[in-house]
Amino acid sequence: MVEENWRRVDDYIASALISKEEAQEATLAANARENLPAIDVSPPQGKLLHLLACAIGAKRILEIGTLGGYSTIWLARAVGDGGKVVTFEVDPRHAEIARANIAHEGVSARVDLRIGAALDLLPQLEAERAGSFDLAFIDADKPNNAAYFAYALKLSRPGALIVVDNVVREGAVADPAKTDGGALGARALFEAVAAEKRVEATAVQTVGAKGWDGFLIARVK
Ligand code: SAH
Ligand code: DHB
Ligand code: MG
Repeated sequence: MVEENWRRVDDYIASALISKEEAQEATLAANARENLPAIDVSPPQGKLLHLLACAIGAKRILEIGTLGGYSTIWLARAVGDGGKVVTFEVDPRHAEIARANIAHEGVSARVDLRIGAALDLLPQLEAERAGSFDLAFIDADKPNNAAYFAYALKLSRPGALIVVDNVVREGAVADPAKTDGGALGARALFEAVAAEKRVEATAVQTVGAKGWDGFLIARVK
């Protein structure tokens, strides 16, 4: 099975390059115990987010879609003391589990976890004039991806990165026969990014423990 091979290579990458201190075993175990869907980013992907954030010296990060806080914690480790990850989660139970995981990893002071639908919380964040973000990670309900991208752009500084998860969906993005919310959301996102002169962007397909999918990465000019 190809998928088994993908998982084996992800395990190999993680065992070679991701230390036990980084691996968040307790977070993943808590998420499994609480029956959260295993739709967090994979360990190699989490470390990629961390490295991107470190590479641009990100101090303020916006995340949409917290789940159990796995990606949040990777990002929180990148911002350093005094940095902040503002993360939005619509499901209070997910948020509660995330809060415990974030505390367990010792990064609560760097995380501002807000409960609610992102499209309700984003205007509030804008009104707070909370300062511009260095990086945004969009990973929530896929039909709203273009709207989230527009907000992320509005809230970002020049040179910021906007990363969107799940833009390939097993190839559905490029298959006109696929018209589910995920596929339509991904295509709407690509169209919005393509039409947006204020960013330069690409997308990369990924295979691994989370199947065949991909990230869109945009840089604000
Ligand atoms: N980023 C996480 C995974 C997020 S899974 C990680 O990699 O670890 C997607 C999450 O988005 C789920 O927890 C879901 O409840 C949340 N979500 C879905 N719709 C949302 C919305 N409208 N606003 C905020 N969060 C939402
Ligand atoms: C789903 C959501 C995700 O963020 C992901 O990475 C994989 C799947 C989903 O809603 O099915
Ligand atoms: Mg995702």
